[in-house]
Order: sequence, then C-alpha cells, then structure tokens
Amino acid sequence: MQDRLTDLAISNVLSNAVNIGNRLNLFKTLAEISSPKNPVLPQKIAEKAGCKERYVREWCNTLACGRILDVNEKEEFWIAQENVESLTTDNFPLIFNTMLSTILKPIDTLIECFKKDGPYGLDYSMYSDFEEMQQKFAKTTSEKHVVPSLVPAIGHGVKERLEAGIKVLDVGCGGGLHIRLLAEHFPNSQFIGLDITEKAIAVARLMKKSDGSDFENLEFVVADAGDMPKSYTDTFDLVFLFGSCHDQMRPDLCMKEVHRVVKSDGIVAVTDVDGSSNVHTDRETYGKMAAMKYGGSMLHCLPVGSNSPDALCCGSMWGRKRAVELMNKCGFHDIEIIPTDYFPGTVLYVMKK
Ligand SMILES: C[S@@+](CC[C@H](N)C(=O)[O-])C[C@H]1O[C@@H](n2cnc3c(N)ncnc32)[C@H](O)[C@@H]1O
Repeated sequence: MQDRLTDLAISNVLSNAVNIGNRLNLFKTLAEISSPKNPVLPQKIAEKAGCKERYVREWCNTLACGRILDVNEKEEFWIAQENVESLTTDNFPLIFNTMLSTILKPIDTLIECFKKDGPYGLDYSMYSDFEEMQQKFAKTTSEKHVVPSLVPAIGHGVKERLEAGIKVLDVGCGGGLHIRLLAEHFPNSQFIGLDITEKAIAVARLMKKSDGSDFENLEFVVADAGDMPKSYTDTFDLVFLFGSCHDQMRPDLCMKEVHRVVKSDGIVAVTDVDGSSNVHTDRETYGKMAAMKYGGSMLHCLPVGSNSPDALCCGSMWGRKRAVELMNKCGFHDIEIIPTDYFPGTVLYVMKK
C-alpha cells in the first residue's frame, strides 16, 4: 500500500503541473517552438509564453521526470509527437486535470463538512471559478454533440418540433452553453435558460451568436428551479436539465416544478451522470473511472447538494434507480433511459407528463 500511496502523491503533483501548463498555454507554446529534432531551453518557452524562466524550468523538469515531456542531456525539452494532440487540444482527460484545482478550492471547509457538527455543505461561490470551468467542461464534452446527436436521440419528433418553433426551458443552465447552441441552430424556437446563481446568469447573458450578433430568441432568468415563476404553468414544449438535477439540494421540488411548467404533450430531457445506484456494480462497470465519478461527487456535487438541513444530498452518483424513483414521485412515469456515448459517463432520461 505504501508504494501505491507514493504513486498517488506523484500523480497528484503531475496532475497539478499539467493544470499549470494547460492554464498558461505552456504545452501549446512548447509544441509550437520545438520538435524532437529541435528541442528548446526553458528560457525560450518562458519568453514566448510571457512567463518567468525559473518557474518554467521547474515545470519542465517536473513533467520530464514524470515522462510527460521529453528532455535531453543538454536540458532541452520537447513534446513527443504522439503526445502533442492530447496536451494541446481540448479533450476530456486534459480538462479533468484542469478542473480538479477548481473543485479542490474549498477542501478545508469540505473537511469540516464531514464532521458531525460541521457545516451541511458548500455554496457554489466557494468554488470561485466554477462557472467558467463548467463552461469549458461543457464546451469540451458537449459542443459537437448537442445538436447532431442529443436532439435526435430524444425522439418524439423533437427535432422537427424545434425546427417548426416551440418553447424551450433549460433548468440549471449555468453559463448557458447548451441552450445557446440550441437557440442558434433552431431560430424559430424560443428559449429560456434558468439558474439560481446570479454569477452563472451573468456569464450566460454575455452569450452571442457565432457571428457576434445578439440573440432574439434566447433569454436568461435567475430563479430557484424549485420555485419557478407562476406564469410558467403549462408553457413549455421541451424542458432540458443538463447535468443539473443531482446538484440541487431539492431535486424533488425542481422536478415537481418541471411537471407543472411542461405542457401536457411536452417532453422533458434530463442528462445526468450515469451510475447504477450501487457502488459495487459501478466499480465493475466503470473500472478506474468509477473512482473519478464518485470522487467528483464527493468534492463538488454532494457538498453543493447537501447545503441545507432538508437537502436530499443526492451526489452525482445517485444513479439510475434513485433518479427514476425521484422522477416517478414527481409525477413522471415510463421514463426512457437512453445511452449517450458521445457525452462520456452520462445518460439521458426522457419523460412526459
Ligand atoms: C453542474 S452545473 C450544470 C450547468 C449547465 N447545465 C451545464 O451543463 O453547463 C449545475 C447548475 O445547476 C444550478 N442549480 C443548482 N441548484 C439550482 C436550483 N435550485 N435552481 C436553479 N439552478 C440550480 C447551478 O447553479 C449550476 O449552474
């Protein structure tokens, strides 16, 4: 076990070095100015990236010893050709390493939360750059897939209905990336993004179309999903929740409200982290990724979803069984569970009133 613990600590250090390199564009800089035939000194990387040589040198040294960068006897560095793409383009594993520092920000208070007399949970504001990071994550995982893959997967003629023009609500929209993609692609439909945090909605309201112009069919509202505006009753043809159900303290109140605001022939589409509701099964199913899924829940989703005395404390690995039970209690029956292999680790629940 001691060897294993040492390996864990080394991986932790390397992960933080990867995060630093990604945030400061050091990998991209190194890839641009070096090659196996043309290795460079840290001074050159630092100059090009606008950083201090001494820090960049220690970063290079760390990652070369971790065999993520390559180094020669003259202490010149480069990225092996087969690693350039993974280290310089937006991809799921790279963003994981970058996200970890965001979800670890309140670690001291999280430790207090574990204690019997400690706080119930954590507020989103304690993860200071959560909204920005969530948007980067959503961009990496979703941007290419929401319109071509997810919309047809929902079925029920949703694509055609979006093309013709319907009313759509995105509950817990965060910085609004998903709903922006939909609003741009389906200009005949009207879209509302709703989120409880002012900060998320402030980010979302900055959204523009790809050509830089303003949206005419997209608005954002600050509201609690468990207490949506009274005027929304029987209003929406389509309601989305993109990864925002388990995060809520009272997802039951939210889903009851979703039941109220969706039209009688409307559709509700919920994407959520996939799991079986049994940790033993999840460990067999997901292998090493199971620890990442439960760990992400422990560090972020559980504490934000536990932050009140009456919170349901779901955590992101609440899984299909508990999710369906909650949706049933809120009036939704015959829930379809649809795999979404294009969103790693996620599943889609589709339901009607
Ligand atoms: C994991 S983030 C997902 C954000 C966005 N859907 C995405 O995929 O990028 C969960 C979001 O749910 C929002 N949220 C949590 N509780 C809420 C509530 N009671 N009412 C409305 N939004 C809520 C959070 O503020 C956060 O933006």
